[in-house]
Amino acid sequence: MEKAAHVAAGATQEQESSPNRLDDAARHHGSAEAIPERLAVVTGGNKGVGLEVCRQLALKGVTVILTARDEKRGKDAAETLRRECQLPNIIFHQLDVRDDDSATTLARYVERRYGKLDILVNNAAISGIVADEEGLKALNIDAETWTSGRAANLLKEVFQNTNDEAFNCLNTNYYGCKRVTEALLPLLKLSTSGGARIVNASSLASELKRMPNEKLRNDLSNIDIWDEDRIEAVLDTFLEDLRSGRLEEAGWPVMLPAYSVSKMVINLYTRIMARRYPEMRINCVRPGFVKTDINWNLGVLTPEQGARGPVMLALLPDDGPTGCYFDQTEMVNVW
Ligand SMILES: NC(=O)c1ccc[n+]([C@@H]2O[C@H](COP(=O)([O-])OP(=O)(O)OC[C@H]3O[C@@H](n4cnc5c(N)ncnc54)[C@H](OP(=O)(O)O)[C@@H]3O)[C@@H](O)[C@H]2O)c1
Repeated sequence: MEKAAHVAAGATQEQESSPNRLDDAARHHGSAEAIPERLAVVTGGNKGVGLEVCRQLALKGVTVILTARDEKRGKDAAETLRRECQLPNIIFHQLDVRDDDSATTLARYVERRYGKLDILVNNAAISGIVADEEGLKALNIDAETWTSGRAANLLKEVFQNTNDEAFNCLNTNYYGCKRVTEALLPLLKLSTSGGARIVNASSLASELKRMPNEKLRNDLSNIDIWDEDRIEAVLDTFLEDLRSGRLEEAGWPVMLPAYSVSKMVINLYTRIMARRYPEMRINCVRPGFVKTDINWNLGVLTPEQGARGPVMLALLPDDGPTGCYFDQTEMVNVW
């Protein structure tokens, strides 16, 4: 699993100078540490699909840096995987994807301790609304109605699209993915496993047929006109329309609007990055309708099932697809 090489001496210094940021797993290795053949960072790894992605990657022999915004939740999750699943190749590091400093600190840690990164799974996300959970349960919406988007009008009664939550959602789901990717890109370029793999968590909500605004829908399907500046101008317009109460009038998605828009632009960002870095395999994936906190546990798949797509894409062969969207493990066209 690991080949003999040694990390830069700086790693030990950082571990000692900021112990609260680092996982005690480092102690298992001692000072003469081997560089893993494949090293992954998973965001939002403390629960749900992300936790299971960490477990499945570690089972395949990948050394996994399980990251979480909350130090305790992340450490507990990593410790549980190490102990109960006998996976010593799981290490915790704090990462709040909304925080530039947090992303930079993680990148410095990976650089000093390993000098490269092979796999990045951008999994962390939030729903972007404030839910009346009791009201939601009372609606008793079945999986088919939920995933088809037909519940959108019903859900208006129990979902509140606040400005703060929408901003938080875009900042986590899109800017967070971009922030972490950019911070780790220099290390991904140094991957020793035939070009890095980047996997971005997407969703059915990203399907362009769910975008009522026809002009934007047509634009979103034309990858040639997009770059990050254009994406971010669209996100600013979305937030402006939300603030002025004209989301529906402007033709934004009705169901989970901020979340849906964030995932539509994640698809674009994936394609932009795949074109920019053809030596890497960069794809996005819908894990399926998984029973986790993000959907108030309405999902029907287990996290173990939901992790299969992201894990498959994290372990793609060197000649695997790039710039594609997968529904679980199947490539489909949503744009
Ligand atoms: N479940 C589904 O049916 C479904 C369907 C389509 C797409 N997805 C996508 O799959 C991915 C995983 O979702 P899930 O179902 O596993 O949901 P989940 O159980 O709610 O997990 C979300 C993870 O993201 C983390 N997170 C949220 N904000 C963060 C931040 N600022 N910094 C770092 N981590 C943060 C959460 O940490 P905390 O514990 O600290 O909140 C948690 O670890 C998401 O991208 C989601 O959009 C899920």
